[in-house]
Amino acid sequence: MPSLDRADPVILGHILQEHRELHGLLRATREAITPPSGGAPAASRQNGCERITQALCELRNHLAEHFQQEEDGGFLEESLARLPRLAAEAQHVLAEHPALLDEVDRLIKQSSGGDIPATGWATLCRDVDQFATRLLDHERRENRVVQQGYNEDLGLADD
Ligand SMILES: [Fe+2]
Ligand SMILES: [Fe+2]
Repeated sequence: MPSLDRADPVILGHILQEHRELHGLLRATREAITPPSGGAPAASRQNGCERITQALCELRNHLAEHFQQEEDGGFLEESLARLPRLAAEAQHVLAEHPALLDEVDRLIKQSSGGDIPATGWATLCRDVDQFATRLLDHERRENRVVQQGYNEDLGLADD
């Protein structure tokens, strides 16, 4: 069994740290959509939109950098070197980045448009929530690729 070299905990630690930060930003985004579902008054919708825009912009900045780091190599590459059969899955996950950034841009536009009607508010909340779920799913599959790469290399895999 190959031994774990010194770089591994550093790389894994970095991913975990990055993803923890991302989860924090996602939580803030979700919190921004919590208050008013049915019947929110216009002023409170306006407030909510501002909070959502702010949270989404912070998330967007983080994501752009995070995706860039992932694409520039480093952790996924490391997993692939260990288990080439993960290549297709890793490529698939990385290929989702542009669409995710497009979606967050679209949501920022949607939330920063100023005065929105109650129906627009409900749609925005639903869309933001769906985006958060989609992004979490992306990160989960990414973690799985990395973990498989390391675990199987160490003989820790279940299957
Ligand atoms: Fe990613
Ligand atoms: Fe990621």
